[in-house]
Amino acid sequence: MQISDVRDDIADELISREEIHGKIKEVAAQVSEDYKNTYPLLVAVLKGAVNTMAIFSQEVSIPVQIDFMTLSSYGAGTESSGKITVRQDLGCDVAGRDVLIVEDIIDSGLTLEWLVKELKSRGAASVEVFALLEKPARRIAEVDVKYKGFTIPDEFVVGFGLDYDEKYRNLDSIAVLKPEVYQA
Ligand code: PRP
Repeated sequence: MQISDVRDDIADELISREEIHGKIKEVAAQVSEDYKNTYPLLVAVLKGAVNTMAIFSQEVSIPVQIDFMTLSSYGAGTESSGKITVRQDLGCDVAGRDVLIVEDIIDSGLTLEWLVKELKSRGAASVEVFALLEKPARRIAEVDVKYKGFTIPDEFVVGFGLDYDEKYRNLDSIAVLKPEVYQA
């Protein structure tokens, strides 16, 4: 049996595991300070934000509630359709809560624009965003991102939750794949 390793398909590592963890730790310290008098609800958008949420929630020192939502906007295509569908909703009521959305990447911004409006319409007391990655070149909708990780160029990246054809989410860094991976 052939032994394969996800790292073998990487052409270029953009952000290392250490850099990712360092940045998440920094943001978590700030969030722990900013929300020290409240009990925030951290909301991660599945599946991409799972890795970020896992590390982030462990670095936040104050008590927090964690919940998840599965949203879909891409359908079968690679471009966001802009029409967001809730495939799996939160398990709790957000009315009166201070909500912090934890996202892996903001591309067009359409997912976040929709989610911020949706949570506010459900009565959240406040809604802020932590996005590990931002790709400004692809932005269509303007979203106010209070906690920022890294800005990346307009390249297709995988790793740390981000996938290509559902693979590479378990890579521990953010990377660009070898062109032959797409052609295979
Ligand atoms: C990705 C990512 C964000 C969204 C960002 O999710 O995790 O939620 O797209 O794109 P946008 O800014 O253009 O709206 P995706 O729909 O690929 O699902 P996944 O997290 O399960 O991979």
